[in-house]
Amino acid sequence: MKLLNGPKTPVILQLLRWITSPMPYMEACAKRYGDIFALRLYKKSLPLVMVSNPQALQQILTNDTKEFAAPGDLNLLFEPLLGKRSVITISGAEHQRQRQLLMPPFHGERMRSYSQIIIDITEKVISQYQIDQPFNVRSATQAITLRVMMQAVFGLDEGPRAEKLQQFLADLLEKGSSRLNVALLYLPALQRDFGPINLWGKQMRRQQEADQLIYEEIRERREQNLSGTDILSLLMAARDEAGQPMTDEELRDELMTLLVAGHETTATAIAWALYWIHKLPSVRQKLLQELDRLGDELDPNAIFKLPYLNAVCSETLRIYPVAMLTFPRVVTTPVTLGGYELEPGTPVIGSIYLTHQREDLYPEPKQFKPERFLERQFSPYEYLPFGGGARRCIGLAFAQLEMKLALAKILSSVELELVDNGEVRPQRRGLVTGPDRPIQMVIKSQRQVKPRILQKSTV
Ligand code: HEM
Repeated sequence: MKLLNGPKTPVILQLLRWITSPMPYMEACAKRYGDIFALRLYKKSLPLVMVSNPQALQQILTNDTKEFAAPGDLNLLFEPLLGKRSVITISGAEHQRQRQLLMPPFHGERMRSYSQIIIDITEKVISQYQIDQPFNVRSATQAITLRVMMQAVFGLDEGPRAEKLQQFLADLLEKGSSRLNVALLYLPALQRDFGPINLWGKQMRRQQEADQLIYEEIRERREQNLSGTDILSLLMAARDEAGQPMTDEELRDELMTLLVAGHETTATAIAWALYWIHKLPSVRQKLLQELDRLGDELDPNAIFKLPYLNAVCSETLRIYPVAMLTFPRVVTTPVTLGGYELEPGTPVIGSIYLTHQREDLYPEPKQFKPERFLERQFSPYEYLPFGGGARRCIGLAFAQLEMKLALAKILSSVELELVDNGEVRPQRRGLVTGPDRPIQMVIKSQRQVKPRILQKSTV
């Protein structure tokens, strides 16, 4: 039996490197120790086993195996923001039930009804930018995805409460993604309110303000007996086996989870896609040809099925996956993984980033090449931007739809250019990743041949 390898540096140094530069650290470890290795981030717990071997990933993530569980209490890092009753922080049968409640709006007809919302909001946001005025792409895409999520989750886009909540959430996530705030998440001993100058205290107060608005919205819906087709209405109408509705705390935690998990990730993905499309002229040209071929009848259904657009989105999520990692799993019974024996209680995590950087799967992995996805198919354990198994991303189809429609709408409306052609690299942004500097772009002109997007959603 092989001995599990990993860095021998003191625990605190491993944790610091993990907080400040997780991707270079993972790459350095994989180079030295292979595609299964162990990091020691905390003194008292077992080492964290990091996996980027597709067979081992399959063993971990396949649902029917009883060797690994995906308990929510391993996701404590998310608890300060998402709460104790979020789908991300709960476990076992309760987790399964809650997933089933949350999934219907992200499937089939219900999800398709968001097509028009996505297109309209993208148009509104883009029209706010002036020709020749540089703007930060991530701010623009974040404005789009936040408004889309507000609509999908609350049925709210405009109005004072929606605007206030959008502002709070944008603020909360912006401040929360600083390295210092991430360090606070990893070091719970510092999560105390020491008064008005205290970082943690400030973050918690911002959050309380956002919570208050969410609770107000829930109360108002109850009092006025309002219902709609949005996710909040659906969750308020749901009853468990005992006929009980969700409590306000449960509702708040799920709404916050969807807002947070759903908008920042997709905003970053669309921003990266715009970066690559405009950095590589041949990619942009092929994409425009494909979009223009749709001609006047450019409808959401057709956009969703475009092969090159699909390949561009897939490659965007391969090269710099917004989520570097799956949520951790834990060994439940003695198990052999890739030749290593693991004892019960060992935390195991899938490194999406390292898997997507494997040379044997993706030759020249640092090059952006959408063609990879036209030339071959990858298994769900070779390409996994949305994770897999019991905690696979609930918003997968929604995120793909939003990426494709927003990109198609932007590219067919305006001629964009990068302000400078320098390299942008990924870095930690809170618990996910993002560009290491602002990606500045500028609108050069409105597009002349503007394909018409059908008003009726038919995806
Ligand atoms: C490009 C965009 C997105 C990416 C890259 C992404 C990625 C991921 C990943 C890697 C996981 C963990 C999967 C695992 O551990 O196996 C996850 C979970 C999750 N995602 Fe996403 N996601 C995206 C967009 C969204 C959207 C739009 C929503 C909701 C509207 C969403 C909601 C969730 C939820 C609720 C979970 C937790 C599921 C659970 O614990 O059972 N995500 N996502």
